[in-house]
Amino acid sequence: MKEELERLLRTRWAGRRIVYEPRMGSTNDRARELAEQGAPEGTAVIAGAQDAGRGRQGRAWLSPPGTGLFMSVILRPDIDPARIPMITLAAALAVREGIRDVSGLEPLIKWPNDIVSGGKKICGILTEARMKGRTAAYVVTGIGINVNVPGFPPELSEIASSIRLETGKEVSLAETAAAVCGRLEEMYETFCRTGDMSALKETYNQLMAGRGCQVRILAPEGAWEGEALGISALGELLVRRRDGQIEAVTSGEVSVRGMYGYI
Ligand code: BTN
Repeated sequence: MKEELERLLRTRWAGRRIVYEPRMGSTNDRARELAEQGAPEGTAVIAGAQDAGRGRQGRAWLSPPGTGLFMSVILRPDIDPARIPMITLAAALAVREGIRDVSGLEPLIKWPNDIVSGGKKICGILTEARMKGRTAAYVVTGIGINVNVPGFPPELSEIASSIRLETGKEVSLAETAAAVCGRLEEMYETFCRTGDMSALKETYNQLMAGRGCQVRILAPEGAWEGEALGISALGELLVRRRDGQIEAVTSGEVSVRGMYGYI
């Protein structure tokens, strides 16, 4: 894996240092340890399998050997911590484009950062950061892609899929990692130029699942419904309420449900 990835990489910094092991607890945890020890921006930590893979909202991320890409990339952005959630959006765009590059699949992004195909999730992203004063000491972007997963148990098969299930073809994990690193470098550099999503917003919105559809916003103060319009330059989800008022929804605060199915 490591040698093949090194051979395939066309990046200047993303994935230029690779830490690969066949088994780890969580690549995000290992990446955080390495970041604390001063590992450079772009260091990619990849595991063949994870014993303690983590998803968002405290969920586990099943990570058996052989069929999934489990990768965490260390970033060192010089930005206000409030802007860190936007890195996840830029990473989602990068992963979406990387999956397209390597497989020909045209997946969509479920705001803020799930990648979906045929209405099912094929990738999740978990971004974690450590602050240092008023800036981020480092950010770890953890990417879990269902690459060659041949099938899911009944309780997941309605909501989860893989590149292989969607295309009928296997793709190499190293090629997938190289494509994602390439796109991550591109999207992250674009993000850093402006410090927000203004330069990526249009592409993101074109690739957003459920845009123009009714969504249900599950906010701490109560649920409400409206039409998803796309993201703002700050990465918020713009939703038009029934009375015509447009609200900017922040990813940390709410969860979005399509009115029909997972999306
Ligand atoms: C989600 O809940 O959708 C996010 C899932 C993120 C999983 C990836 S796999 C690589 C990295 N290491 C982890 O422990 N989690 C992330």
